[in-house]
Amino acid sequence: MIREMKIGKFFLGIMCMVLIGCLIGCNAQKKKLSQLDEDHGIIVGFSQIGAESAWRTCNTRSVQDAAAEKGVQLVYDNAEQKQENQIKAIRSFIAYQVDVIVFIPIVTDGWDNVLQEARDAGIPVLVTDRKIDVADQSLYAGFIGTDSLKEGRNAGLFVLEKFKEKRERFEETKEHINIVELFGTEGSSVALGRAEGFREVLEPYPEFRILYSKSGDFLRSKGYELAVDFLDTYDDIDVIFSHNDGMTLGAIEAMEEKGILPGKDIVIVTIDAQQAAIDALREGKVNCVIECNPKTGPEIIKLAEKLAAGESIPRVQYVHEEVFYETDDLSLIEPRGY
Ligand code: AHR
Repeated sequence: MIREMKIGKFFLGIMCMVLIGCLIGCNAQKKKLSQLDEDHGIIVGFSQIGAESAWRTCNTRSVQDAAAEKGVQLVYDNAEQKQENQIKAIRSFIAYQVDVIVFIPIVTDGWDNVLQEARDAGIPVLVTDRKIDVADQSLYAGFIGTDSLKEGRNAGLFVLEKFKEKRERFEETKEHINIVELFGTEGSSVALGRAEGFREVLEPYPEFRILYSKSGDFLRSKGYELAVDFLDTYDDIDVIFSHNDGMTLGAIEAMEEKGILPGKDIVIVTIDAQQAAIDALREGKVNCVIECNPKTGPEIIKLAEKLAAGESIPRVQYVHEEVFYETDDLSLIEPRGY
């Protein structure tokens, strides 16, 4: 009996110590957070998709550099291409009580619940690069990033002009202009916007025909695999419209292995404008490069600071983007930095 009482006291003692330890730990954590606030300005939770492309790596660097420059504490998370990881990261930002959440949604749908949790915790959310589709639009403060619909339209307009003569002969030749589309990540706003803008421009012209459209997930390796597949299946491709440079570079590799001349045997339109695509444009392997600007860090941090100060921000803000054509003076293009 005495022995049992002693054991009971012993466990009670241990539990008290654990409880006291937790309380000290929590206070230390709170102290750490408030010290961070005083010493380093605001705290921003940043959920990035991953590192699937040169574009993405540049985008991450741009946000990190801008935060460091402004003394903003960035709590960074790389979701490794998984939406569930992004949701977990946002929940951890909420638990951490960051001042602002910045995130790049890998796909448009599935954010309502977690954004409601951020709202309940009083944390403003800035969406960047890709857009979201939520029932209650006020769940996020604003969007800054690329205009993917415009990028797709620019790709369509280039193809329209490039095949003007073939188009005009269509009535008599009945020869279609055959297109292959390398689609980005399925369900992502950028891929959907690029596809929609492209189709919107070409749809009134029955001369154009999209033969093949598959997702290469914005990855060079998948661009290569898809190109092996469509080059084996079709021998009458006129155009490749690729949603990003990574997939384009993979497709070029596959074409060259088969002795097909990229940019000559098949016209190539690509989006991002990373250095390797501009080099390919200069070599005549690509015909048109549409810029998607990844250097949004300074503007993102500026908007995050405004939100933390309780100020309002524009609902939608598009970044400046250019189009580079094969007919331009390509010596004027500055080094891209990604
Ligand atoms: O969301 C932007 C796109 O994602 C870029 O075009 C692509 O390269 C990236 O991976």
